[in-house]
Amino acid sequence: MTTHNLAGILEVFDTPQAAAAAAARAFAQAAREAVTTRGAFHVALSGGSTPKLMYTELRHLEVPWKAVHIYFSDERTVGPNDEQSNYHTAQVGLLDHVPVPQSQIHRMEGERDPAQAAADYAALLPVQLDLVLLGMGDDGHTASLFPGTAGLQGTGRVIANEVPQQQTWRISFTFAEINAARERWLLVTGASKAPVFQQIAQGQGHYPVQSVETPHWFVDKAALEG
Ligand code: 6PG
Repeated sequence: MTTHNLAGILEVFDTPQAAAAAAARAFAQAAREAVTTRGAFHVALSGGSTPKLMYTELRHLEVPWKAVHIYFSDERTVGPNDEQSNYHTAQVGLLDHVPVPQSQIHRMEGERDPAQAAADYAALLPVQLDLVLLGMGDDGHTASLFPGTAGLQGTGRVIANEVPQQQTWRISFTFAEINAARERWLLVTGASKAPVFQQIAQGQGHYPVQSVETPHWFVDKAALEG
């Protein structure tokens, strides 16, 4: 597992709202540029709760939604209507409010056998994603690549990853897939992230998130200072 410290861009904001708003503006800009130059914007959304603020901001920005293709960096092994589903979070927070064609929303099928669902998902991915949006757990995981799990060494593009510390399986991008995208953004907010984030900022630790190459970090002061 190659580790990196804060290689890439680090932007620090006073509040989670400011970090989310900046990420939303950058998303809109990246989408406009991709559609202008390549005719489409292929973006993978992250899971968890942090993106909710960004989704709310995004609804009101100028984004060429008709040319946006939505993917997911990971998914829990639950159905699409489950509160725990990353798809459900994105649907409620964003996708129900913007005109992305349904055929361009590519859900990871968490209700299926995870290995089969992962293989089928890999087959529908574009050659290269324009952007992978990620978060970071308090333990330094990203996507569903948790400390000590086999997925850290996963090969291919999308895998099923057993997460014993949560007594569950997940479907997740591999680091190869994450690092093959044109860009990788990490939106990290809240004091609970500070113990790990501070180590990473000092080039210390061996956390899964440190295998994300040249990320653009959008963080708030609480995540940086505790
Ligand atoms: C997931 C996410 C995961 C998330 C982090 C941070 O499915 O849980 O993909 O990697 O980004 O756990 O989650 P919060 O934003 O809820 O802190």
